[in-house]
Order: sequence, then structure tokens, then C-alpha cells
Amino acid sequence: MPPVERTLSILKPDATRRNLTGAINDRFERRGLRIVGQKRIKLTTEQAERFYAVHRERPFYRSLIEFMTSGPVVVQVLEGPDAVALTRAIMGATDPAKAAAGTIRRDFAETIEANSVHGSDSLETAAQEIAFFFSTSEIVP
Ligand code: CMP
Repeated sequence: MPPVERTLSILKPDATRRNLTGAINDRFERRGLRIVGQKRIKLTTEQAERFYAVHRERPFYRSLIEFMTSGPVVVQVLEGPDAVALTRAIMGATDPAKAAAGTIRRDFAETIEANSVHGSDSLETAAQEIAFFFSTSEIVP
């Protein structure tokens, strides 16, 4: 049995706008991930800039910040065996045109930017990203 991990997922504004939060959560739960923390919030520009600071120099950064603050998002902590890699596998490639069949991005994403979901890219990033949005008492395994 792979080690139980936690990862951060964000259901992005294109997903909340189209009422896809339940459909997306179903994909995670069916694959054995448990949603141990979840809240619907509107990111401030400052929060989005800090969260995506690693992409500061990328050409898509400003547009990404505008998109991520354009509507509500659902931030969530997913827990389960191999949660970081499993979540990324369920999401599929960043670019929906390159995402495998049956993945969230292939089935739901609108564009490479409005790609419905975010998932932490490593265990270390996951710990930082979870702490960015959640206090210990908000995570209930
Ligand atoms: P995410 O996994 O949240 O990480 C960075 C985000 O930037 C990505 O998903 C997309 O929403 C957005 N983005 C927009 N254009 C690109 C691009 N060319 N390459 C990677 N990410 C992009």
C-alpha cells in the first residue's frame, strides 16, 4: 500500500461557473481520495499573486491572476494513498488538448488557462499549499 499523503486541489473559476464542483469531486472520491478539508472562497489579487509567485516571470502570469480572481474557487485538501501523484493523474496534463482520455482536464477544461483544476506538483509543495489556505483545525480526516 503506497503511503497516505495529502495534497491541495483548487477547483477553478471556470469549474464553479459551470456548476462542475460535484462532478469533479466525484472523480476524486471514486478513485479513493477523501476530501478532508474544503471551502469555497474568492481569491484576492494579492492571494493569487502569492500562490502563483513561482510563475511570476511567465508570460501568462497576469492573465492567470485575472482568471483566478474572476469568480469563486473551491480549495480542498485531498487525502489518500499516493495522493499527490494520483490527483495529478486524475486531473491530466495542464493543456486539455494534451490530457489523456477520461481525465478531468480532457473532459471539462476550456483552455490551457481555464483548465478547471489545480493540483500540487510534489509532496513538499503540497504541504506549503495546504498551509497557505487551511489551518490545522479546518482539516478533518
Ligand atoms: P496550474 O496547474 O494551476 O498551474 C499554473 C497555471 O497557469 C496552469 O494550471 C494554468 O491555469 C495556467 N497557464 C496558462 N497558460 C499556461 C501555459 N502556457 N503553461 C502552463 N500553465 C499555464
